[in-house]
Amino acid sequence: MKLSTSFVCEVCGYDSPAFMGKCPECGTWNSLREIKVANQNSQLRSAMQNSAGQANTNPKKLSEIKFDEKDRFGSGFSEMDGVLGGGIVPGSVTLLAGDPGIGKSTLLLQLALNISKADNPVLYISGEESEQQIKLRANRLNHSRNNNLLLLSISNTDAIVDVIANVSPKLVVIDSIQTMESENLTGLSGSIGQVRYAAMEFIKIAKSQNIPIILVGHVTKEGMVAGPMVLSHMVDCLLFLEGEKFTRVRILRGLKNRFGPVDEVGVFSMTGAGMSEIKNPELLFLSQTKDGAAGSVLTATLEGTRAFLVEIQALAVFSKLPMPRRVASGVDSRRLELLIAVLQKHARLPIDAMDIYVNVAGGLKLSDPAADLGICLAIFSSLKNIPVNKIVGIAEVGLLGELRPVADFGKRAKEAKKLGFTNILGTDKFKTLNEVIQRLSK
Ligand code: TYD
Ligand code: MG
Repeated sequence: MKLSTSFVCEVCGYDSPAFMGKCPECGTWNSLREIKVANQNSQLRSAMQNSAGQANTNPKKLSEIKFDEKDRFGSGFSEMDGVLGGGIVPGSVTLLAGDPGIGKSTLLLQLALNISKADNPVLYISGEESEQQIKLRANRLNHSRNNNLLLLSISNTDAIVDVIANVSPKLVVIDSIQTMESENLTGLSGSIGQVRYAAMEFIKIAKSQNIPIILVGHVTKEGMVAGPMVLSHMVDCLLFLEGEKFTRVRILRGLKNRFGPVDEVGVFSMTGAGMSEIKNPELLFLSQTKDGAAGSVLTATLEGTRAFLVEIQALAVFSKLPMPRRVASGVDSRRLELLIAVLQKHARLPIDAMDIYVNVAGGLKLSDPAADLGICLAIFSSLKNIPVNKIVGIAEVGLLGELRPVADFGKRAKEAKKLGFTNILGTDKFKTLNEVIQRLSK
């Protein structure tokens, strides 16, 4: 194979033929690493070749191309099928990313057990655990004895490609992409070159044999080194498994999907016998706050097509520091800074000398701007000691302190009413943040 040299950014995957001190794509200093890659053109060419090894040069009419929705097959988890857009597409490559220990291996082992049948072998390849360890894990999970799950503990990329071609399974799970290694290039497993090479090889075999492959990718807290972000433009689907390790709730989120909608979520719970689906997650993100507690408010967030009622908690206390703390968990910290500034300027809340902590109950990460009003009201409630914990705030807050309407307000309000919360504050009743705060102060 022809190898050429390339310099790849560890953070964002930017590819450059020459070394640079700063990545022009993401602006990180000193993040470019030299790697040996198989010539990009020849890689792409072989990915598009048919099984006989000939390049496919005949354009086809759209109507002649066969893709049947029926080709998708279920994962055995309806929560996961929803995220994938209706099931697993043959020949697709999916990357399941998440923090170590969050439950990726458990979820995929269950999925493999669900799918494997006598005439549908599933190949589960682990570069992290021995076959005995996987067996031990499988014993904890409820599964039928007449499965046809094939296990292999190996981390050699090239050997794995041969095994996949020989076994021709219904599905392949590779746990994890960071442990894969090839002698065809230098660098330890987990280095950006090895990770990219392995992903490229697996994509090739998936496309040419029409076998779906799910790759596991670990995310590190410090910016996902050589991990999912580098691969996200190569794979067909990128899924994230999130949650806090000390709580049971796990959220599966689709961030990229070439075969379906993005931003759908599936909700699972980690139990003693593996992951179990939570089909009615309504009450999951509400903590049992006692009546009259200040600093807690509800909001309704939209995740894909589903609305969830979520509790936001805030704590505002006098700071001893010259630069008061602003600690956000579950919401973007820059968004929090911005909302604090708006509260100060437009609602005239004296919070410039306060430490402010904001937390989203249940481990959900809110990126929906509709949570803005909720965050502001939680801070207000904690500061003034005014309980608002039966109130649902649903609106985006602008820099001028104005409230902006959000998508699908009706759906969110319906979810709140279904759970018995009828005091819903939104742009239908209020135009500015200040008006809401005036009303609640009375
Ligand atoms: P794991 O799937 O190994 O995480 P990852 O592959 O993402 O690193 O999950 C590890 C955690 O899950 C571990 O702390 C034990 C816990 N666990 C359960 O709570 N129940 C179970 O049935 C299993 C198999 C694991
Ligand atoms: Mg694992």
